[in-house]
Amino acid sequence: MTIAIIGLGYVGLPLALQFARRGVRVLGLDVDAKKVSALNAGRSYIQHIPAGEIKKLVRAGKFSATTDFAEIKNVAAVLICVPTPLKRNRTPDLAFVLNTGKSIARHLQRGQLVVLESTTYPGTTENELRAVLEKGSGLKAGQDFHLAFSPEREDPGNPHRLADIPKIIGGYTPACLAAAQKIYSRAIRALVPVANCRTAEAAKLLENVFRGVNIALVNELKGVYAAMDIDVWEVIAAAKTKPFGFMPFYPGPGLGGHCIPIDPFYLAWRAKQVGQETRFVELAGEINRAMPEKIIARVAKALAAQNKKISGAKILVLGLAYKANVDDDRESPSYVLMDLLKARGANVFYHDPHVPVIKRTREHPHWAGTKSVPWRRKTVAGFAAVLISTAHAAVDYRRLAEWSPLIVDTRNVMAQVKVAPGKVWRA
Ligand SMILES: NC(=O)c1ccc[n+]([C@@H]2O[C@H](COP(=O)([O-])OP(=O)(O)OC[C@H]3O[C@@H](n4cnc5c(N)ncnc54)[C@H](O)[C@@H]3O)[C@@H](O)[C@H]2O)c1
Repeated sequence: MTIAIIGLGYVGLPLALQFARRGVRVLGLDVDAKKVSALNAGRSYIQHIPAGEIKKLVRAGKFSATTDFAEIKNVAAVLICVPTPLKRNRTPDLAFVLNTGKSIARHLQRGQLVVLESTTYPGTTENELRAVLEKGSGLKAGQDFHLAFSPEREDPGNPHRLADIPKIIGGYTPACLAAAQKIYSRAIRALVPVANCRTAEAAKLLENVFRGVNIALVNELKGVYAAMDIDVWEVIAAAKTKPFGFMPFYPGPGLGGHCIPIDPFYLAWRAKQVGQETRFVELAGEINRAMPEKIIARVAKALAAQNKKISGAKILVLGLAYKANVDDDRESPSYVLMDLLKARGANVFYHDPHVPVIKRTREHPHWAGTKSVPWRRKTVAGFAAVLISTAHAAVDYRRLAEWSPLIVDTRNVMAQVKVAPGKVWRA
């Protein structure tokens, strides 16, 4: 059996490798020719995906990549893993999904299965995607071809085996669901069938909104408890000893990544269309988006305690990726912190062992080309303050404590290091 996976990024590539590992021949499709040639040469462009494995599967003839959509004529199924970002006005941008749908439609064959994996609002698969597939192919979903939605549950940097993460699937018809189950059962151990595509889309949004709301809660409690001279980190550590009904979430400098800061807006937008409000979701967004300003106020206070000001100070932001131990800097709150510091007149630098140089992105073109400063005493000691935004395990925090005159820690990572009083400020 051969399947095609479209969009070979953080979601599509691991999924492709998982199918290939299980003996399914995978054709990877991407519009980025550089990614395609890297993969065919057995190279990886995502740090936590080893090149060795790609090379092995390419050599075994189980995996190959192409930019040519005509090749999907010969596959049993097409899985779509392209981005679903927001437009400037924070409304869903389905352009990637719909353009991919149009490209598939030109080559769609009777009996094929099309599955959308990209996170999106309920209704996208059965309405928007179905429309472009049917219009471009002249075929009918549920009659001539199968259509389904199955959200990805990737946790980059954490060692879950993809095969062991249960996979939700909703079909456009019961036959579509059965066709999708048949394909996914080749690679994934536990499948979770649901009533239809929109239920599967809604389940993914619940998972991500749940994270956003709970992170907002602890971000709020951080300030509330600090005012009562209570350490929120100790509170969470204590609360999580409860063996039922509690799950720990941790405060931070704001939300990051391609999911949690974006997906709630997909839900909020769709809710408005059906006359519903999403007050909880919006409140969480408000609280989380206010975090960077609060962190900067804390940096100002910490500097003031040493008779310094943000304006004119050299400040190092430590950790640029949005979460620990990955190289993904999309939507990272570190950028917001850097922008705010710069706006207040600081000289801003960053260090991140996983992001040696900042690539050009739509959101932060002004930082493109900036390089991570070297990790050595002379450099680090030259900053008035180090602001820990992301706590990568590859950073030596004991050294940091030795080298830096002032550390503002948003991740509580300095709790593990003995430091002179007054040097570390929690934020
Ligand atoms: N990254 C995560 O942890 C994660 C987790 C769960 C779900 N998701 C969702 O999965 C989807 C993909 O996210 P990602 O992080 O893999 O994005 P990504 O940017 O890493 O990868 C997307 C890939 O799609 C390619 N692409 C764009 N348009 C294309 C087109 N028209 N045809 C072919 N290829 C095209 C890009 O070149 C890129 O390689 C999003 O909807 C996201 O919300 C992401």
